[in-house]
Amino acid sequence: TPRVFSGIQPSGGLTLGNYLGAIKRFVEMQGQGFETIYCMVDLHAITVWQDPEALRHQTRELAAGYIASGIDPDKSVLFNQSQVAEHAQLAWIFNCVARMGWMKRMTQWKDKAGKNQENASLGLFAYPALMAADILLYHATHVPVGEDQKQHLELTRDIAMKFNHDFGVEFFPVTEPVIEGAATRVMSLRDGSKKMSKSDASDASRINMTDDADTIAKKIRKAKTDPDALPSEADGLENRPEARNLVNIYAALAEQSVDAVLADIGGRPFSEFKPMLSDLAVEKLSPISGEMARLMQQPDEIDAILAKGAERARTIGAPILKRTYDIVGMVGA
Ligand code: TYM
Repeated sequence: TPRVFSGIQPSGGLTLGNYLGAIKRFVEMQGQGFETIYCMVDLHAITVWQDPEALRHQTRELAAGYIASGIDPDKSVLFNQSQVAEHAQLAWIFNCVARMGWMKRMTQWKDKAGKNQENASLGLFAYPALMAADILLYHATHVPVGEDQKQHLELTRDIAMKFNHDFGVEFFPVTEPVIEGAATRVMSLRDGSKKMSKSDASDASRINMTDDADTIAKKIRKAKTDPDALPSEADGLENRPEARNLVNIYAALAEQSVDAVLADIGGRPFSEFKPMLSDLAVEKLSPISGEMARLMQQPDEIDAILAKGAERARTIGAPILKRTYDIVGMVGA
């Protein structure tokens, strides 16, 4: 069976971008003839400073977010990365396969390290090799992600191909990114040219999965727009990034195409569309945030689910790491 792997960093709260671009897609792929493996990538999160207590909380909250959104720990393997040591072990092998030049071209490295690259962590630079290890440890073939992860997935393919070539084997599969739907790139509510992000300084720029109904309504009411009414066709959204973003969010939440949404709402001013959007967002998100809050009352249960998930993940990954060591020439593998 084809295998799906994806991960999310517990580096802050979940945003609507993570939900629509990732988790909602993960849920859709569950039980569709794929073996699905979903991860909280805590080793990735610490490539930038994380307060230990906050990291623990965020990891459990992310697990609660996955489950509340519909990831069923019996149907999918759900775990946190640090509990399966094979991720870090395979990442080391890939650190020796990947080239410095490949890493230097990563836009996320350039963005996150900023002007002061000398002071960024070595882990932040090697981040994509660990990500390749996450995926290839399970020989995953399909990786659902948002648009911003495309370059990292291309690097994952490069690492798999170079490994296979260097060692003369057909061992690691060349993975397919799955970047689909209306919300592969949800933008900031304050600036249509910036991605919605958990690390944006402005909380008004994003909808958090833990926001209550009033907060969601307020953020949408205040979202930046232009003065024109909505178009009836998709090409009318060109050069209107804020309008496009809100329509994309609506389409993804409603599970309709952008064309179908515009056929319906075209001609309306934002003063009519925004309340429709916030009603829809509250309707879809508040059951999830309610369930997240309930699950967070029982952190021990969350930890038990993750421990079981790690065990299952190791069962799949350990033989693949062993075989990798053997290919590389490690005695004892
Ligand atoms: P992270 O934690 O930044 O984001 C998790 C997922 O959410 C998607 N996403 C978005 N999608 C649409 N619009 C947005 N504004 C938005 N913001 C985030 C991301 O594309 C991602 O799918 N490097 C990864 C984590 C990772 C991973 C992996 C992913 C580690 N190992 C292996 C796939 C496979 C990351 O930083 O995601």
